[in-house]
Amino acid sequence: MKVIIRNTAEEASLWAAHYIVSKIKAKAAVTDEPFVLGLPTGSTPLGTYQELRRMYEAGEVSFKNVITFNMDEYVGLPESHPESYHAFMHRNLFDHIDVPRENIHILNGNAPDLEAECEAYEEAILDAGGIDLFLGGIGEDGHIAFNEPFSSLQSRTRVVTLTHDTRVVNSRFFDNDWTKVPAQAMSVGVATVCNSREVLILGFGEKKARAARGGIEGPVTHTNTLSALQLVEYGTVVLDAGAAKDLDPANVAYFKAVEEAEGSAF
Ligand code: GLP
Repeated sequence: MKVIIRNTAEEASLWAAHYIVSKIKAKAAVTDEPFVLGLPTGSTPLGTYQELRRMYEAGEVSFKNVITFNMDEYVGLPESHPESYHAFMHRNLFDHIDVPRENIHILNGNAPDLEAECEAYEEAILDAGGIDLFLGGIGEDGHIAFNEPFSSLQSRTRVVTLTHDTRVVNSRFFDNDWTKVPAQAMSVGVATVCNSREVLILGFGEKKARAARGGIEGPVTHTNTLSALQLVEYGTVVLDAGAAKDLDPANVAYFKAVEEAEGSAF
């Protein structure tokens, strides 16, 4: 695992956006195969999406040959609801870049057969050749996508029941009323994320410090699904100073030394 620490969320977001673009370009330089990108929602990726949009507008990158798979979606929330992850993704990214509409995949939380929808999603990922890079955020309890504590580390796309804490945290988007936050979601599994060729997880702010410390320095455990990243060959966590505040200073020094020795392009 690599850990990249920047002073602010803004600097960390810039790093992530430039890293993603470098990976899209690196693949395009050697093959016509599309780049398959996994994407999250939440406030954490907003700065990264903003920079990806800026880079697209400046002609620094095209998403024409990119296929996307989103991590999750609420069950039973209409797609037109402003807090559906469909609406979020179009508002914050897809409506502003040249990714072909047919290349966008987001789980349908209103599908008549949710189980079949989850199976079809896993198949679509396989058909696309697997995910090249899965970008993600972390919940305050360490969850990646909606893989709440006690999710199997072998889990695949499925319907999940949200913890009370997650509904309370996400109620800020639902009039601060946790009962308005859907009780269930569909989510790619821990194994779906971790089987990607590369995984990049962002964590910003002191509220994420406990989750970051557990996932990075603690044991691999289903009580903090970020920790499954320890089993990924190419896994990177990008933190701002707030989220990194509880890491062992000796480890932070080592993470910086690795970056310096290997050269961080951004
Ligand atoms: C939700 C999403 C996660 C996201 C998390 C953190 O639970 N399902 O994918 O990482 O929220 O959200 P935020 O980035 O707003 O802190």
